[in-house]
Amino acid sequence: MNLKKEFIDFFVSKGHVAIPSAPLIPENDPSVLFNTAGMQPLIPYLMGKEHPEGKRLCDYQKCVRLTDLDSIGDKTHHTFFEMLGNWSLGDYFKEESINYSFEFLTKVLHIPLERLAVTVFAGTDKVPRDEVSAHIWESLGLKKERIAYLGEEDNFWIAGETGPCGGDTEIFYFRSDDPIPDKFDPKDNRWVEIWNNVFMEFNKDSAGNITELPKKNVDTGMGLERVVAVLEGVTDNYQTSIWHDIMAKIEELSHKSYEGNEQSMRIIADHVRTSVFISADYAGIVPSNTDQGYILRRLIRRAIRHAKKLEIDMNSPWLEEVAEVVIQKYANDYPEIKANHERVINVLKEERIKFNHTLEKGLKEFSRVINNLNTKTIDATQAFRLYDTYGFPIELTIEMAKEKGIDVDVEGFQAKFKAHQELSRTASAGKFKGGLASTGEKETMYHTATHLLNAALKIVVGPDVHQKGSNITSERMRFDFSCDHKLSDEEKARVEEIVNNWIKEDLPVTMTTMPKTEAVKSGAEAMFIEKYADIVNVYSIGTVSKEICGGPHVSHTGELGKFKIIKEEASSAGVRRIKAVLE
Ligand code: SER
Repeated sequence: MNLKKEFIDFFVSKGHVAIPSAPLIPENDPSVLFNTAGMQPLIPYLMGKEHPEGKRLCDYQKCVRLTDLDSIGDKTHHTFFEMLGNWSLGDYFKEESINYSFEFLTKVLHIPLERLAVTVFAGTDKVPRDEVSAHIWESLGLKKERIAYLGEEDNFWIAGETGPCGGDTEIFYFRSDDPIPDKFDPKDNRWVEIWNNVFMEFNKDSAGNITELPKKNVDTGMGLERVVAVLEGVTDNYQTSIWHDIMAKIEELSHKSYEGNEQSMRIIADHVRTSVFISADYAGIVPSNTDQGYILRRLIRRAIRHAKKLEIDMNSPWLEEVAEVVIQKYANDYPEIKANHERVINVLKEERIKFNHTLEKGLKEFSRVINNLNTKTIDATQAFRLYDTYGFPIELTIEMAKEKGIDVDVEGFQAKFKAHQELSRTASAGKFKGGLASTGEKETMYHTATHLLNAALKIVVGPDVHQKGSNITSERMRFDFSCDHKLSDEEKARVEEIVNNWIKEDLPVTMTTMPKTEAVKSGAEAMFIEKYADIVNVYSIGTVSKEICGGPHVSHTGELGKFKIIKEEASSAGVRRIKAVLE
């Protein structure tokens, strides 16, 4: 059975519109690295904004959760997973939501009622106990003993600290051959949660105040991997049909069987799948030492180390071969996987080759360090050397040390790491690095300011101004543009004034994904149109700017502060250069 298809077909038959998965790397939100739940891209709509597709939506959403990274290797954890969800944006509420879930589980998936139990919200002093949901469940035939009331800790859902939230009802499945107890005990882990229906009627602000949302919404989430395991009757998620081909490939490459090598095989399978999805995302992430790029690097390098443990031929394209299986598996469900197939393979290949160069020597160095230890701790200098010279992410060193019962001076490492970063920043100051090197908060602001500057120059100098280059650090932006004369003081002042007015207007920065041809037709600017894939992200700032761009950007121009030009000079023939700062 294809669970995704069944789910979507069911909710479409109930008047929902199937929307595509949002990118894994959130648009316009540099505060989180990855999408962690199906509802995350829908937050503005849960808060009251109208969704162009209507009030009933459903989808399968790509998610990455890093909280469980260290647990990967066991039976149930994944870094990447797909979440099935249906939403009511101010349309239906508890009655229909619970009825739909019940119908899908019992009529489409044919789960017998005896195997189901639910929790509902016990309420707080501010929010009443959810008798309504309990009654609906009872009316559907669920016995009273199968309904447990739990408090805020368990049955009140919010993504992070602030935002839309509400009480929920969670649906559990009895996964065991033991006789099914009459009374449901949520602490008994033979009962596994399979679906969460959140009744989002509140908003929590940063002061902790809870207020009612303009509309009552429903947000449901069902973890695909877990439900497939339940339906296929296995307790090891990695033994479902989802992983079958991937594991078979790893077994073939290692000449070993899954049994007895579960941990390394799960890590490889999980990490390669996640790496494929991260590098296929439109943000164009490549392995690096910051943000999503660093996560990608960690995942790939950890997978490589486990492949070595399994004695897979390190000089063969084994990583790309596993990735190919993942790509084949998901290409039909995710257009970006198909579109960026080649790119993904190249990213993985390059990183594999890069780490191969130092892995062998690094492992020797690691053994040498371990053998010469006087204490039970790898010190900061040693850990930093493994990182800097041999490319071992600190987390990899920690994991390897842990296997030997040894600690790592992580704090000392962080201090060295920071000092090293500052040193290399000073060393590279003024040196052209090309494009957006890293994407901290400051860099993100400069990135948006670059679009504003580009648009302002077109007004002040003329429509023929085009971007010829850009370089951003956390301290300043530099922008090269076609122009045949030195800007006068008046021109510079006007450019500043226009940009600062747009900042004051707090214009929204929005992103849409569309085919490149359509983007060009719609008048979106791009510096090198060829460098973009067929499907591109177009960033609009109010109505003043529209550019094809990988992001990231701030969500509103009001976040930028004050824009100031600090230098205007010649760059090359017909090209001028502006250096500017945000104060
Ligand atoms: N937001 C809820 C969850 O992630 C339901 O989708 O569980």
